[in-house]
Amino acid sequence: MSDLRLMDKCILVTGSARRVGRIFALACARAGADVVIHHGHSDTEAEKVRDEIKGLGRNTWIFKADLSDSSQALGLIPRINESTPLHGLVNSAAIFEPLSLEQITFEKWERHISINLTAPFLLSQAFARQAQEGGRIVNILDWRALRPGADHFPYTISKASLAAMTKSLAVALAPNIPVNGLALGAILPPSDGARNPEIIKNVPMKRWANENEIEQALIFLLTSPEYITGEIIHVDGGRHLV
Ligand SMILES: NC(=O)c1ccc[n+]([C@@H]2O[C@H](COP(=O)([O-])OP(=O)(O)OC[C@H]3O[C@@H](n4cnc5c(N)ncnc54)[C@H](OP(=O)(O)O)[C@@H]3O)[C@@H](O)[C@H]2O)c1
Repeated sequence: MSDLRLMDKCILVTGSARRVGRIFALACARAGADVVIHHGHSDTEAEKVRDEIKGLGRNTWIFKADLSDSSQALGLIPRINESTPLHGLVNSAAIFEPLSLEQITFEKWERHISINLTAPFLLSQAFARQAQEGGRIVNILDWRALRPGADHFPYTISKASLAAMTKSLAVALAPNIPVNGLALGAILPPSDGARNPEIIKNVPMKRWANENEIEQALIFLLTSPEYITGEIIHVDGGRHLV
């Protein structure tokens, strides 16, 4: 990303010590932003991302918070604001467990909802309070959010609800803060698994995404015309269409 469209804006990316969140954090830094790295448990990985962002010449901070704990989610942005105001919030942290209806316990259900839905809600509310002069929110969704099925049941419902909340927030936070969603498809295989060829069979584009495709989509939504709000862009190779 050679143009610096986010120069001197500070963006919080949740769950950015590793994997997709890390890709987003580095993309923001390459677009000129200062970046707040949030992590839950990946302390060492967060420090590596901090070093990479510093190497790009941007300011960066690390904040740890367990987003399954509502008091930690509530306190995160006020803590960050002691160091920096925020221009952008990217809600990327999530859990994704392959649970069928039969396998779901109350605790597993609650954990998915608290990390994948309640935390983005609490963070969005706190973000809006400190973004009086405007800002951006991008919620990271999944193609399943708009095509809910029975696999990964609590994850899918949490993301479908986050898609609905993206639209409600776009109305509630207008005209100050455009709120949009990025619905991802086959980006990275689960951290404990290989690239299952079966997944690609159902993707019209017949391949996994390239990292720069999700980077470009995120930077677009962080810099797009303000009149685009409540929109959900799929970066899934057409998976939601079949
Ligand atoms: N990977 C894909 O192909 C794909 C496809 C569709 C959608 N997505 C979406 O993209 C986003 C990132 O996906 P991913 O594959 O990178 O996810 P991932 O590997 O499961 O990583 C999850 C991230 O969320 C954080 N997290 C999980 N539980 C947390 C908690 N209790 N408190 C704080 N942070 C917590 C983790 O941070 P720590 O390790 O620091 O705890 C980690 O950075 C998610 O919203 C996911 O739904 C990904």
